[in-house]
Amino acid sequence: MAVVPAMPVWADFDAEAYPPYEICALCHGLSGVSATARFPNLGGQDPTYLDMQIRAFLAGERHNDGGQMAQIVTELSPEHIPVVVAWFAGQEPPAPSGHGDAAGETLFTQLGCGACHGARAAFLGVPHLTAQHAGYLAKQMKDFRDGRRKTHAACVPPGSMMPAQDTEIEAIARYLAAQPRP
Ligand code: HEC
Ligand code: HEC
Repeated sequence: MAVVPAMPVWADFDAEAYPPYEICALCHGLSGVSATARFPNLGGQDPTYLDMQIRAFLAGERHNDGGQMAQIVTELSPEHIPVVVAWFAGQEPPAPSGHGDAAGETLFTQLGCGACHGARAAFLGVPHLTAQHAGYLAKQMKDFRDGRRKTHAACVPPGSMMPAQDTEIEAIARYLAAQPRP
């Protein structure tokens, strides 16, 4: 007589009973503070910006993520997007890290980055950069420069050019990571 295998335990798993942002926690931390620079902090981030990025990954317009985000966003149903956005935007912002960088501060100021990325965002959808992981920020600036991240039409307009040198980009990133989020 054939042995009928017991139903696997996960057959009882009810995805609908769990909040949709739990699937994000593995990489971004449940409160939006992540363990490594590969995964950006999301806690306290601008909600319009979070919403735009999730939709950009979903639409295939942003694909500098190594495939991880593009994959996971397909598991969010449309009504879950505002729920995860409200969750992460509503968390405490991350704590600053590192020792800053005086040359990075000078570049950020001289290049006019603060016109949009100041204490108060210049318009909806401008991300907070302060207290973000330096390694993540540097990767984004290099991805903009090298055309790997294409969703930045509203960033680095003429007159505020992203620096070309890795050393300059990394200095700006170290400066921003060490600033407290206002
Ligand atoms: C397997 C790891 C992984 C999981 C799980 C994951 N992400 Fe991400 N996420 C990433 C990586 C990697 C990046 C950065 C990609 C890059 O370098 O541009 C990212 C970037 C983002 C960004 C862009 C942040 C910014 O500052 O531009 C948002 C928003 C985001 N994720 C939201 C989510 C949400 C919401 C979930 C859950 C539905 C989620 N992520 C689950 C790996 C993950
Ligand atoms: C005119 C306003 C504006 C100016 C000036 C500007 N930015 Fe941005 N920046 C934006 C917007 C809007 C985004 C979001 C782009 C997107 O949707 O992908 C952004 C995104 C970024 C990101 C990615 C953040 C993340 O979480 O992934 C970095 C890093 C950044 N900007 C750095 C800079 C630096 C450095 C300068 C100065 C050289 C600068 N920006 C000047 C508007 C601006």
